[in-house]
Amino acid sequence: MCGIVAYTGQDQAAPFLLKGLATLEYRGYDSAGVEVMGADGALHGVKCAGKVKVLVDRCRTANLVGTCGIAHTRWATHGAPTETNAHPHRDCSGRIAVVHNGIVENFRELRAELEARGHAFESETDTEVIAHLVEEAWADAAGDLVAALRVATGHLQGSWAVACICADAPGQVAVARNGSPLVVASAGGAAYAASDITPLASVTSNVITLENGQFALLGPDGTVAVSDEAGAPVDEPSRVTIDWDASAATLGGFADFMAKEIAEQPEAIERLLAQHVGDGGVALDKLRLTNDELAAVDKVYLIACGTSYHVSLIARTMIQTWAKVPVVCDYASEFIYEQDVLVTDNTLCVIISQSGETADTLAAARRIRKMGAKVLAVTNVLGSTAERESDGVLYVQAGPEVCVASTKAYTAQMVACALFALRLAQANGALGLDEVRAHCADLALIPDKIREVLAREEQDRLAANAFREASSSLYLGRGVNSTTAYEGALKIKEISYLHAEAYPAGEMKHGPIALLEKGFPVVVVVPSDSVRDKTVSNIQECLARGASIIAVATDGDEKVAQLAKHVLWIPEMPDEMLVPIVAVVHLQILARYVALARGCDVDKPRNLAKSVTVE
Ligand code: G6P
Repeated sequence: MCGIVAYTGQDQAAPFLLKGLATLEYRGYDSAGVEVMGADGALHGVKCAGKVKVLVDRCRTANLVGTCGIAHTRWATHGAPTETNAHPHRDCSGRIAVVHNGIVENFRELRAELEARGHAFESETDTEVIAHLVEEAWADAAGDLVAALRVATGHLQGSWAVACICADAPGQVAVARNGSPLVVASAGGAAYAASDITPLASVTSNVITLENGQFALLGPDGTVAVSDEAGAPVDEPSRVTIDWDASAATLGGFADFMAKEIAEQPEAIERLLAQHVGDGGVALDKLRLTNDELAAVDKVYLIACGTSYHVSLIARTMIQTWAKVPVVCDYASEFIYEQDVLVTDNTLCVIISQSGETADTLAAARRIRKMGAKVLAVTNVLGSTAERESDGVLYVQAGPEVCVASTKAYTAQMVACALFALRLAQANGALGLDEVRAHCADLALIPDKIREVLAREEQDRLAANAFREASSSLYLGRGVNSTTAYEGALKIKEISYLHAEAYPAGEMKHGPIALLEKGFPVVVVVPSDSVRDKTVSNIQECLARGASIIAVATDGDEKVAQLAKHVLWIPEMPDEMLVPIVAVVHLQILARYVALARGCDVDKPRNLAKSVTVE
């Protein structure tokens, strides 16, 4: 969702701002803009609907000379993704400009009041009210830009990360955070702000993560002064150290980030296991729960959205099977408003969020925490809001994931949840240490099993042909692999825009079977597990109606090979519960090939955002 970049220093601002926007593209957006404070004492801006590269082209002929500026990628909420609605937005004088991520919920009332006081609005956005509110506050702020922003945001309801410049406060950028992510940094005599650490990784490894209610003033000499809601200085703001190299967010020879991130899965899982598995079983030092607290857990809520919700479904099986603790999985957006939430004295809530910034997931976590449950965050982003607002954290360490569709974070999160399930079982005695070690040994096989699947990507490329004429598809699986089907269908929908319906295989006959006709592609996840024969029967039912079968099957399954048009082979696995972590890799690669064949931008699918920071 919306991305913010700000710079002030001695160098030209526009090159860093535009480069920063390009690194934030992965968040998802539909228009972009930049505003620079010129040496002539005026603001100069360029905006466009569409991609950052269009903005970059337009900037070539614009007069963007200046060493201080703000920039933005907008994911439309209020008003269409047009040039007029793109940020930055200015006040009436044109001397103040703001960019914003979040939603101003009371913008209608504020706009009516501002218009009644004579302010003229140009856009349909909620954001523009902030520029006009700063304009009013600036008149009484005695030259203090943060003070003006503090007064302006004091009128807002909703969520925001805001960056603001004013031509009458040369070289200064004021920023504010409440509910939407924002980080700031000082490096090499310049000061920076951004929605996340990716644009800053090339200049520093040390960033400040602003808390809700905090403000910062960035100065042209690189100073960053953080203050709180009341204006008091915050001497020791929260800091994170970026633990990956800026090159981790570049393509490094791959055709797209999705291909790169799919290929990175074995190493991501190896890193995670190396960190947490030892002779004593599983050690998760940042859970911040004592052994006794873990042993007492009698109910687990797993709350997430999107791909991370699919992780929760697999995690439920792992926790219930290994730790024998009952689990409820819920979509965060549903959980927030559910009337029937039952929290016991020893309920633990695990939120799963690769970005750690998903608004629904954070709201759900806040709700259950208020009800008395401890909250643990499984996240891929160090210093994210999910981490900071939770009691404990399990950092999945998959490295930056740039492609909007999640791949390596998905598999790494599943492994992280397996480690959590084993840690819980270790604490409550459901498994003995030897049993935990044996499961860890099985987990340690996964990276090489994935490498085998990666080496077979030709099978996926060929199978993509089965979708050439299709306008819809069906994904089936049983048990833990019904989730593999859900995730496979989600991937293909996300990046190729081909409709895909996912169902537990046995449930197909109660509806989706009516879709089947000659050549209709049906992807069936049918590994050699305890329910394989039942799933084979479902394949027969599909074939009887002319469907074209793409099967994910275990090496050596001749019967499935005879029935399917294409087989995506997976190696034998030691434990059927771990099959989803390997089988899904074929469905990721398959989705990518289908998307490429349909001419889609696999990394930046339309309408989607990587980090969904609004409810
Ligand atoms: C968006 C992304 C998905 C992601 C979901 C949840 O919809 O496009 O890839 O699964 O948000 O994100 P989270 O960061 O909470 O895992």
